[in-house]
Formats: sequence, C-alpha cells, structure tokens
Amino acid sequence: MIRALMLAFVAALAACSKENSAQQNAPAPSAAPIKLGFIVKQPEEPWFQLEWQFADEAQKQFGFSLVKIGASDGERVLAAIDNLAAQGAQGFVICTPDVRLGPAIVARAKAKNLKLFTVDDRFLGVDGKPLEDVHYLGISASKIGASVGVALAAEQLKRGWTNDETGVIAVTFEELETAKERTDGAIEALVGSGFPAARIFKAPTQKSEIPAALDAVSALLTQHGDVKRWLVCGMNDNAVLGAVRALEGRGFGPDSVAGIGINGTDCIVELEKANPTGFCASVLLSARQHGYQTCEMLYRWIKDGVEPPLETRTTGVLITRANFKRVLKDQGITR
Ligand code: GLA
Repeated sequence: MIRALMLAFVAALAACSKENSAQQNAPAPSAAPIKLGFIVKQPEEPWFQLEWQFADEAQKQFGFSLVKIGASDGERVLAAIDNLAAQGAQGFVICTPDVRLGPAIVARAKAKNLKLFTVDDRFLGVDGKPLEDVHYLGISASKIGASVGVALAAEQLKRGWTNDETGVIAVTFEELETAKERTDGAIEALVGSGFPAARIFKAPTQKSEIPAALDAVSALLTQHGDVKRWLVCGMNDNAVLGAVRALEGRGFGPDSVAGIGINGTDCIVELEKANPTGFCASVLLSARQHGYQTCEMLYRWIKDGVEPPLETRTTGVLITRANFKRVLKDQGITR
C-alpha cells in the first residue's frame, strides 16, 4: 500500500515537472505587438507615399507596429527582408522593384518564416507567368486602361479633333503585366471607338518615371512631325506627365494635347496649376485599399489565421481639373 502511494506520488511529481518544462519550452505569450513590414519600389512616388499613409492608419487602428522600407533593387529587397526578420516581424507587404525577383522573394520570406503579401505589381515565376499562389492585391488594370481610352475618345470628340490630324501616344512598359494591361486596355477602347489603329504609336520605357517617358516620347515625336493633335495614355500619371513635358518641349500645349493618367495621386500638383496643361485628367486609384486593406489582411492572417483571398482587384474613378478637389477630399487624400 505504502509502495503504491509512493509510486503515485513519484508519478504525480514527474507529471508536474513535465508540465513545468512544457511551460518553459512554449513560446512566452508575447506582450510585443505584431510587427509588419511594407516595402515599396519607389518611395519617392506620391502613390507609394499614400499607400504608406494608409498603412499607418491601419497600424493605428489595429495596434500592430509597421516598418516602412523603400527598396529599388533586388539586393535592397533581400536586405530589407533579412532586416525585418531580425527585428522580429512576422510578415510584410511588398511592391517589388522587379517582378522577376518573385521566386527569390518567396524563398527568402519562407526561409525567414515571414508571411508575404504582394501589392500593385504581381510576381512572375521563372517561366515568366504570374505567380498566382502568392497573395496579391492590384488594380483591375485592363478595365481601368479601357476607361482611359473611352475618356480620351470623349475628349477628342468634345474638342472636335478629326482622326486625320490626331495621333495617340501610348507610353508603354510592357515587361510589367499591370502596365501592359493598362495601355492595351486604353488602345483597345480607342480602336473600339473608331480611332485608326495605324495612328496609335507606342513609346516604350523600361522604368516608370517621368524622365524615362520624356525621353521615349521625345524620340517618338521626331518621327511624327505631321501629327497636329495628340491624345496620350500610359501606365500611370508619371508616364503621361513625361509625355506632356516632351510635347511641351516641341510646342504642343493644352490646345493640342489631351493626356489622361492613372493613379490620380502623382498629378495633383499638375491639376492644381492655375493654367491648364495638356494633362487633363487621371483615373484615381484606391490607395487606401492598397495601403490599409493589405495590412489589415496580413495582420488578421498572422493574428487569427484568417488567410486572405489570393487575388483582390480594385477599381478607379475619373478625376478632371473640374472635380479633382472634391473627389480627393471625399477619399481622404487631401483635406
Ligand atoms: C504600379 C505603378 C504605380 C501604381 C501602382 C498601382 O506599381 O508603378 O505607379 O500605378 O501600380 O497598383
């Protein structure tokens, strides 16, 4: 009997010490908040500054901490991921400087045990096809491009420009899926509205920056001295702004140029100018969804295990010199 009691006592002690050591080995319930990274390819572009601004709002709302990092090439992206991991982050949102870095970024995130959410520019696999199993939020690029084309056709009609005197410049960046879909969508809509395909000219760029577009369009204009009026589209505001600057350099002003951008955030200064320029409108995208919603989805994924949808697409709304102040205010972009 005594022996049985003693055995029971020893067993109880053993169980107790097992429990203790299990408690010691379990991750301590962390008081530290969840930490997320938000890496963007062009931190100087107002679009990405706005994404960060809305990501900051999500940070305040949900109480995680946010590390914002600009990374303009592959080396910087990988260093940023390592840095986030070293700081104890659990995941990050990224707009990559080069979509072909996709597989390397996925591998690094996995190795560092970080959850990954892509925004704006979708990763490409080694076969050149989109990596559809990586979570992504981006714009409905073809539709938004088509809305630019429709708006350009309406401008042409309003201004009474004939097809014979008019040309279209599409500032393209065809290596980037979202960019190609935008300019293809605009071109298709213009052709669909009756504009002759032979009078639509592409100015290819390899970078989404004003100087790159300016150079590409200047080169194109030397070949088309006969065109009197120009309609302009491109992947974003900066592409169209570069084209408008190149056209100004060759004497084309607001009476002979109608350019419509995409983003609606990088053209605010242009639309605020007292005198109109050839840049007459833009499709305002939802920076709030791209900055706030991506962070919210990533946060809930980490905190509650709620996996976000693999693909989310956002829409846009046309802004012009006439309505941009009101729309930007309504959307919480300006005060
Ligand atoms: C790309 C462009 C940005 C912006 C986003 C929107 O990343 O470079 O200017 O248009 O897409 O998703």
